[in-house]
Amino acid sequence: MPDSFDTSPEFPLQADKADELAWCRSQFHFPQHEGRDTIYFCGNSLGLQPLSVESAIQTELESWKQLAIAGYREGPNPWLFYQEYLKPVLAKVVGAHEAEVTVMNTLTVNLHLLLLSFYRPSPQRFRIMMEAGAFPSDQYAVETLVRHFGLDPAAAIIELSPRAGEKLLRTEDIVQQIRDHGDQLAVVLFGGINYYTGQFFDMRAITEAAHAAGAVAGFDLAHVAGNIPLQLHDWNVDFAVWCSYKYLNAGPGAAGGAYIHERFAGDARMPRLAGWWGNDEKTRFKMEKGFVPKTNAGGWNISTAQVFNMVSLKAALELFGKVGMEKIRAKSIRLTGYLEYLLYQLPGLKFEIITPADADARGAQLSLYFREQGKEIHDRMLANGIIVDYREPGVIRVAPAPLYCSFGDVYRFYEILRGFGDRET
Ligand SMILES: Cc1ncc(COP(=O)(O)O)c(C=O)c1O
Repeated sequence: MPDSFDTSPEFPLQADKADELAWCRSQFHFPQHEGRDTIYFCGNSLGLQPLSVESAIQTELESWKQLAIAGYREGPNPWLFYQEYLKPVLAKVVGAHEAEVTVMNTLTVNLHLLLLSFYRPSPQRFRIMMEAGAFPSDQYAVETLVRHFGLDPAAAIIELSPRAGEKLLRTEDIVQQIRDHGDQLAVVLFGGINYYTGQFFDMRAITEAAHAAGAVAGFDLAHVAGNIPLQLHDWNVDFAVWCSYKYLNAGPGAAGGAYIHERFAGDARMPRLAGWWGNDEKTRFKMEKGFVPKTNAGGWNISTAQVFNMVSLKAALELFGKVGMEKIRAKSIRLTGYLEYLLYQLPGLKFEIITPADADARGAQLSLYFREQGKEIHDRMLANGIIVDYREPGVIRVAPAPLYCSFGDVYRFYEILRGFGDRET
């Protein structure tokens, strides 16, 4: 942990003054509490609204109003190509080629679609490995997928749990389990970051192990996209899906993202469920029989681009394009490190940080497990205009998103916690 932090009230003032991303905060709307901006630590659930969204929506409303059907080919952003506008920045955010990313549907729907492409069980190789305690939607997706193939989830799904007495999975154990089950594994599916513990898995090591075993590796990046820079292509990840409403700040129900490595994205023989929007643009409007997929991730598009579910993503990505993931991550490591440092200055309070202490094994979020007073602390935070979330039993997840959270915000959180006593040693 960097030793450059201290508990003085001056520290956050200076850190915010020196922060080269401090200006980004003014690009967001904050919910109000007693006439002031709230402190918002819930970007791991729903990011704040960028100021640019409203006028971006207005632009498309105007195109619809003025142009109607002609809006597909005219206007500031012809809708026919709407997904294309999102790709350049999104590809950088996840470390992929533009041909490997697309925007469509929502996360769980995309997970189903890509699992249907990548899970091809044989009598020998039919098992899916995932982390125990994955987000429920992923569990339901995998359970219903294997049933769809007439398989018993108890036999087909392998869930990995931490060692007895531990809360986090060790990479070496994941890799070993992949090796041990190698000849039966079809897919290894992990959350890039586990939503509850905040653990960021070693995606490269998992992918390598899956490939060495003859399986494919897929990831749910809901908590990673816009939080940690990724290199999906270079890590050789086979497929990934994410939502756009958390760290990407594209609003509730915004269209989700999908990545498919180019060796599959370009392969027209890959099995998939199809619709006309995935058809090669050259022949789409010929309305002929016979699906001809686009030879990129867009070949998995099914329906007409959901422009109004993508417009806020387009607006939100502008900031990512300007700032870049490297700077976002650099601030994030320092901001979350500062939060962790301050928490350790509270020796009397009965809580534990579940999230890994290693900054490389976590994103912005710290999950704090309070053995006592968890709900009370959560309620006190809300009463003080600090928005954090609470999950039974006693877990408060705190995610200082670097684009709109400050060192001052983190200090305020610490001040209120201090009122509850000091951390146990
Ligand atoms: C890790 C993870 N996976 C899946 C989902 C579900 O996403 P959606 O409801 O957009 O399909 C969420 C939602 O928060 C999530 O956090």
